[in-house]
Amino acid sequence: MTTLFDPIAAGDIALPNRIVMAPLTRNRVPSAVPSAITATYYAQRASAGLLITEATAISQQGQGYADVPGLYTAAQIEGWKRVTQAVHAADGRIVAQLWHVGRVSHTFLQPDGAAPVAPSAIAAKTKTYLINPDGSGGFVPTSEPRALRLKELPGIVEDYRRAARAAIEAGFDGVEIHAANGYLIDQFLRSSSNHRTDAYGGDIANRARLLVEVVEAVAGEIGAGRTAIRISPVTPANDVSDPDPQPLFTYVVEQLARWPLAYIHVIEGATGGARDFQHGDTPFDYAALRASYAKAGGRAAWMVNNGYDRELAEAAVAEGRADIVAFGKAFIANPDLVRRLREKTLLNPWDTKTFYGGGEKGYLDYPTLA
Ligand code: FNR
Repeated sequence: MTTLFDPIAAGDIALPNRIVMAPLTRNRVPSAVPSAITATYYAQRASAGLLITEATAISQQGQGYADVPGLYTAAQIEGWKRVTQAVHAADGRIVAQLWHVGRVSHTFLQPDGAAPVAPSAIAAKTKTYLINPDGSGGFVPTSEPRALRLKELPGIVEDYRRAARAAIEAGFDGVEIHAANGYLIDQFLRSSSNHRTDAYGGDIANRARLLVEVVEAVAGEIGAGRTAIRISPVTPANDVSDPDPQPLFTYVVEQLARWPLAYIHVIEGATGGARDFQHGDTPFDYAALRASYAKAGGRAAWMVNNGYDRELAEAAVAEGRADIVAFGKAFIANPDLVRRLREKTLLNPWDTKTFYGGGEKGYLDYPTLA
């Protein structure tokens, strides 16, 4: 029987166990350049089968929050080198989550104070977090976005390609394309945020076109075996929805089967919320999604996330519903989560007050077992 502690190959990345640290934005990266505390934080958690970084902007246009990192300047690449070196020195593996927020941003963060970009000029009913020049911070509604022009889309794909190259230069073992949680790629996928009438809107193939082009560009640049992707078929995060997610995401995974990717990362249910969240009367069938991927020839490792505890994760792997399980909040509070799961010890509780922003408290000071 397969257990969480068995090794697995995720494409070209060899994982010593199947317990992965989910991507977690912590808003502790001023000027978007990772620092010594970023390196310490990830190195503390290096016993994970794999670390996925906090979402990392591929361009300034892709930035949507205060104090989140980027991968588009030389200084950012240098900052990330400290992180990857610290993680590798601690025998860990780490991939960068590549992020373009689309409309979930504010003019304050955009180049020249411009409007954020989106598939369509429809504002998200959501908030972002900004820090004022005087250091005070607060949540503010996202700005009204403008629709991307057709001729701008190759430039967006190019930004992903360049960021993937930058990730390899910075020493990462690969990248995870963030296509989840209502950010740019997901805004294109879902009909609530995509009202385009060109080749990137309308039917499913058109709405998935940007995702497919990004995967093709990134896999072509750094190798499919170092390219992964995160999707969240039903989450309402950042005000996105789609009345018919099953055929949409079936098409997505059938397309993803074209490349021998490292892993497919699926958030089940509402991110950080109900695992059985659904639109309308029909529950989303994750087993059918995986079967469609396999039927289309997909061979990447299947990673699942959202509300997993030890029992649920053990069962998912033992029963073959997943190859790998990603843990979010548990990894914030338990740097030695792998050992704690193996020894079936109690877990430290997480402190939501220190999730976003601040310094070392709630970041570097969670205790490990003696
Ligand atoms: C998140 N999540 C998240 N997801 C993502 O794709 N990129 C990100 O940067 C973040 N940032 C983030 C920050 C914080 C503080 C939380 C709590 C969550 C979602 C996260 O990866 C995961 O999907 C959820 O936390 C659900 O998994 P758990 O916590 O139930 O294991």
